[in-house]
Amino acid sequence: MSEDTTTAAESNGDALENLLTENRQFPPSADFAANAVVKAGEYEAANADRAAFWGKQARELLSWTKDFTKTLDWSNPPFATWFDDGELNASYNALDRHVEAGNGDRVAIYFEGEPGDTRTYTYAQLTEEVKKATNAFEALGVSRGDRVAVYLPMIPEAVITLLACARIGAIHSVVFGGFSAEALRSRIDDAEAKLVVTADGTFRRGKPSSLKPAVDEALTAPGHTVEHVVVVKRNGEDVNWVEGRDLWWDDTVSTASTEHTAVGHPAEHPLFILYTSGTTGKPKGILHTTGGYLTQTAYTHKAVFDLHPETDVFWCTADVGWVTGHSYVTYAPLVNGATQVIYEGTPDSPHQGRFWEIVEKYKVSILYTAPTAIRTFMKWGEDIPAKYDLSSIRVLGSVGEPINPEAWMWYRRVIGADKAPVVDTWWQTETGAIMIAPLPGVTSAKPGSAQTPLPGIAVDVVDELGASVPDGHGGYLVIREPWPAMLRGIWGDNERYKSTYWARFDDMYFAGDGAKKDADGDVWLLGRVDDVMNVSGHRLSTTEIESALVSHPSVAEAAVVGAADETTGQAVVAFVILRGSAVDDPDIVTTLRNHVGHEIGPIAKPKTILVVPELPKTRSGKIMRRLLKDIAEGREAGDSSTLADNTVMNQISDSLKA
Ligand code: WTA
Repeated sequence: MSEDTTTAAESNGDALENLLTENRQFPPSADFAANAVVKAGEYEAANADRAAFWGKQARELLSWTKDFTKTLDWSNPPFATWFDDGELNASYNALDRHVEAGNGDRVAIYFEGEPGDTRTYTYAQLTEEVKKATNAFEALGVSRGDRVAVYLPMIPEAVITLLACARIGAIHSVVFGGFSAEALRSRIDDAEAKLVVTADGTFRRGKPSSLKPAVDEALTAPGHTVEHVVVVKRNGEDVNWVEGRDLWWDDTVSTASTEHTAVGHPAEHPLFILYTSGTTGKPKGILHTTGGYLTQTAYTHKAVFDLHPETDVFWCTADVGWVTGHSYVTYAPLVNGATQVIYEGTPDSPHQGRFWEIVEKYKVSILYTAPTAIRTFMKWGEDIPAKYDLSSIRVLGSVGEPINPEAWMWYRRVIGADKAPVVDTWWQTETGAIMIAPLPGVTSAKPGSAQTPLPGIAVDVVDELGASVPDGHGGYLVIREPWPAMLRGIWGDNERYKSTYWARFDDMYFAGDGAKKDADGDVWLLGRVDDVMNVSGHRLSTTEIESALVSHPSVAEAAVVGAADETTGQAVVAFVILRGSAVDDPDIVTTLRNHVGHEIGPIAKPKTILVVPELPKTRSGKIMRRLLKDIAEGREAGDSSTLADNTVMNQISDSLKA
């Protein structure tokens, strides 16, 4: 009997077992556990009374100008309030209070520009800069509740702008610098922004890359709400200038007064809007408020990364255009009084060792990056990081997509010297802060699993009908209880908030992700449920098959889609980037099909494997499976305007024609 005729029941069993057969475990060292900020007892204490736990964190981690008497109000679900009658200022919490506590000389930000220019801001200096920006924005008429659109590269002025808005109580709406003029305009209009803060441009792989022209184009058509555009001079490119509307940062912010006293804002005052794509065309303006968001971002930053703010150097590589750059660059590290690195550029500029050079230079002890970056580093080879001293690293974080066990192991072994704990952190723009992750001093880590809902967080995996699945089974990831950093809604669209997140199951937040519980009840994320395939009535995860492909030494990267198939409903189609000499191996496709058959089961063997030079990715590094699906189903590829590199689709079709 050939493998292909294995019975359906057998193959289905194999498929479910795939990731669950990953059984390596890495407990924390005795030393790490003994010095950990958060110890094992935290779970019981937190989960016995979640609201009380978060109330305690809110008071311990933040300074309030008015204490709260209520923690959670869930009387009008799905609209929650946390710490409702309390008042605080986010900017004061991130800045002034550290200076008042005698830590003004501690470095807040080490900035490394792409061309190699550097700047260091102590907490005292950063506080002054934010006060100046606050005074400048106020002088331009920005006041509490106004919206400010931010279209900046990854430079300190981005953090300064956000904290100045927060200080005023103005709501920032960051639009990633890689988005088009059209996307910027629609976000400006949706939020009715009064001010835009931008730069002439930035640098990308040694060349200037502009931003201001997109702002000009966005504001060409009349009918917008923008009164002023403040422009940071960064790359020195010539820019068009609209007199009366445009102002240089150097002429407005740099000359403003360094005196500014922060006032408290209500805990539920909106802090920011961040647009994220949904399943339909119109992006959703995810709304976050102040007290609960700051509580959970600060707590998770401390607990998940084992932050010791006096000695650690934290580096989150995310751009401020994404939620990770809000929660774990702009807010949590500063609220916690940590020292962090901000880097403007790409990992391969001017050479493929740039990240490791930065780690060595600043003695980064906690690195937080994405699986797509890790897999790229694997592709480039371990001799590159081997050239640098990475001995300062003690904790490694991952976020953004499921991390396959091979990438997890490589990260730990090559970057973490086989001893730094890897924390895989699951969360979303909507959750505001990390929800599921190991605690590095407590959890026995499993490669490829985010494992455990954090203390005070109630996550579950449920079946189609919303019933909790037993250990060893898969289903949909849900959140059962409100959490402090949860989105408070979609800007201007309460109905969409309810129907997107709270309608699929009664009384539960539907995350849109598939997940499994292993035999220990640990959670394994399986990718968006829209990426789950159904082949001959069997559920298969794109992630599982990608993970199997990437576990083969010849494969650098893989993306899998379910393509419509007359016989089986959907068929598995894989796109792979090969390593080195595998490109010349005439049998590679057969080898890989068999490998997947071996790893998961014959049912999961891709019907088609296409060898390609690149994969289409968004600017945040997510593979755009929709475009690959178009190719797999023999269609012209659809809208690729959000790709990081829009030549990729041509490269792929050329390679398939060849
Ligand atoms: C995915 C990024 C598996 C997931 C913070 C989620 C992950 C979406 C992980 C949110 C992880 C994020 N393991 N999947 N550790 N982290 N995701 O809004 O599908 O950009 O729903 O937030 O990314 O992406 P977003």
